[in-house]
Amino acid sequence: MNVNKNILVYMTHPHVQAWNFLPVHGNILEERIPGLRVTICSNSKEFLDRLPEAKMAIVWFFKSEWLERAPNLKCIATPAAGKDWIDLEESKVVVSYGAFHGPMMAESVVGAVFYFLKAFHFSNKMQLQKKWARIKVSEKLGSLKGNRVTVLGFGKIGQCIGKFLKPFGCAITGIKRTLSEPPDYFVEGDSIVTADKIAEVSALPTTDHLILALPGGSETEGLVTRELLEKLPAGCYLYNVGRGNVYNEQDLVELLENRKLAGAYLDVFAVEPLPEESRLWEMENVLIQPHLSAASPQYLELFVEELAERINSGKYILD
Ligand code: OXD
Repeated sequence: MNVNKNILVYMTHPHVQAWNFLPVHGNILEERIPGLRVTICSNSKEFLDRLPEAKMAIVWFFKSEWLERAPNLKCIATPAAGKDWIDLEESKVVVSYGAFHGPMMAESVVGAVFYFLKAFHFSNKMQLQKKWARIKVSEKLGSLKGNRVTVLGFGKIGQCIGKFLKPFGCAITGIKRTLSEPPDYFVEGDSIVTADKIAEVSALPTTDHLILALPGGSETEGLVTRELLEKLPAGCYLYNVGRGNVYNEQDLVELLENRKLAGAYLDVFAVEPLPEESRLWEMENVLIQPHLSAASPQYLELFVEELAERINSGKYILD
């Protein structure tokens, strides 16, 4: 066995069971990558004690001061798609971020779209009152067919969300930093536009669903201005599965309260956990999830399969 091919894992999660790296995940890596040995640490002390020998580490977070203890470290792999939790500043260590989240996040967005369009919340409210409220419920029903969906952040995740929604017959506008080939599911009426002139995007006033799938960081901070939100029609629903820094949350609260937006599915927030005093908690037209749009029982299996493929393709040299 090649003992140099050693991956050190420190990946426990205090809240989400499916985000704890288990021996079964280590076994998948060892089966897929010849000669690999996976060592799972159950706490940071054990991880830091072993770090000097490690060439690759799998973690949820990494602190820059840990680099002093890691002279052999070549690569850090994390399942997260966002760059929020690995603090390396200037370093030669390569970071591998997960790129497998699209289908799981798309499921969450599809669920939220129909939560609103099929008035499930209202139906449940009527159900609990034992009311056969056919008139009231039927007045609230919508359909995705013929709707316009605008996806701001049309990278891998955004395009996957579009792909899951497309079979329901909506038209899609993807907004991204640079133009690229349209995805293969695009048809006439779908388009990609660049984010530099976002306020002029002609689809905004006719958008029925605005999906935000943007990364965090200074480049996206405040990108979704109040002026931009005000261009959306009052019947538009907003979905945020990216980061909470992209708009001023207070603007969003006001637009939702005044019904200038029909509703919102919010999975991410400027401050997490969302503070108790936030008005968003009590709004009937808001569906809140605690930053879990990508969570699923298969999460870590998908992560290790993707990582094994990357290592086997020679992307990260561990010898
Ligand atoms: C991620 C996230 O970055 O879940 O993966 O937010």
